[in-house]
Amino acid sequence: MAQFQDTIDFIKSTFNTQEFIPLHAPYFGGNEKKYLNECIDSTFVSSVGAFVDQFEKELASYTGAKYAVACVNGTNALHIAMLIAGVKPQEEVITQALTFIATTNAISYIGAKPIFIDVDKETLGLSAKALENFLNKNAEKKADGYTYNKSTGKRIAACVPMHTFGFPVEIDKIIAICDEWNIPVVEDAAESLGSSFKGKHTGNFGQTAVFSFNGNKTITSGGGGAIITNDEHLAKRAKHLTTQAKIPHKWEFRHDEIGYNYRMPNINAALACAQLEQLDTILEGKRKLANKYTEFFKDKNIKYITEPENSTSNYWLNAVLLENREQRDLFLKETNENGVMTRPIWDLMSTLPMFKDCQNDGLKNSQWLEERVVNIPSSYIK
Ligand SMILES: Cc1ncc(COP(=O)(O)O)c(C=O)c1O
Repeated sequence: MAQFQDTIDFIKSTFNTQEFIPLHAPYFGGNEKKYLNECIDSTFVSSVGAFVDQFEKELASYTGAKYAVACVNGTNALHIAMLIAGVKPQEEVITQALTFIATTNAISYIGAKPIFIDVDKETLGLSAKALENFLNKNAEKKADGYTYNKSTGKRIAACVPMHTFGFPVEIDKIIAICDEWNIPVVEDAAESLGSSFKGKHTGNFGQTAVFSFNGNKTITSGGGGAIITNDEHLAKRAKHLTTQAKIPHKWEFRHDEIGYNYRMPNINAALACAQLEQLDTILEGKRKLANKYTEFFKDKNIKYITEPENSTSNYWLNAVLLENREQRDLFLKETNENGVMTRPIWDLMSTLPMFKDCQNDGLKNSQWLEERVVNIPSSYIK
């Protein structure tokens, strides 16, 4: 019998099936087909249309941000957020090594270089303490008011904390540190729609934040992303850059800078609007599942990761901590061989060939977590 048979049985009974259980399936329980049909009937399936405007308005309202700009996906939303933060080629951007590749790829699209700082074991996200230590030791503020890396001489142009699996980082402390050093913060909130910190939705703390609506996220538009901000100027910049930098005019084509075709198509926005209506229901189902996992794992030698202090998680992807790498590998093997999809957390960005020369602070907690964290099935349950 498998060592983790009880976990396999529990997950199968929770999802009430003996069939393969994916990590995260989308839930379509509302107006998805209706809005998609309406969108097709309107013929406006592409880069302009009423659903895009509606989605931006409703996303802003849900998150409490003043503005939202819908994008083709979360990765290019991050690219634009970095551009409007003023990051330039050859500059440096602080982020965590324990993240999904898109965070670091977006930094690279600018031609900037990531600096990898450790995460906290409680939040799985950027550690405020490690950030402070790194800056105190390695950075200096120059007469121009900006912060530079003493060892490379490059400007540290932004900081991108990521709310891992929906668990909010200690964003208030991170913002306070970055304010002191005059470093803009872009929250990578791709995974944290529905999560809040001290009662405020994630994404409202930094200068800008991005969400992803990829098929594996809490709600999906097929592919999609968005930038939110409370700064009118940045919202206008984001909209301009994502729409080929076209100066609005009824018939003329005039562009005043290099822009991008990053606007979310209306057909994706139709799906997004229907999904956003379902978000609270989906969050309730995910919390129900989290409570079941909490109860099941409480007397096991597998630790179920729960929301950190001061925060509410959307429990996008549930995660457990195994005792060590051997136990993790055995858990992955047994669950996947028995029809329960599980997967290890990402390889640290600092170990990938394209980022292995980037500066890091030792990444003690990141390495510890990399060896032990596994995601377990997290789809919505009724
Ligand atoms: C942390 C993080 N950042 C960025 C992204 C990029 O989003 P997308 O897949 O929509 O490009 C994702 C998700 O895929 C993510 O998990």
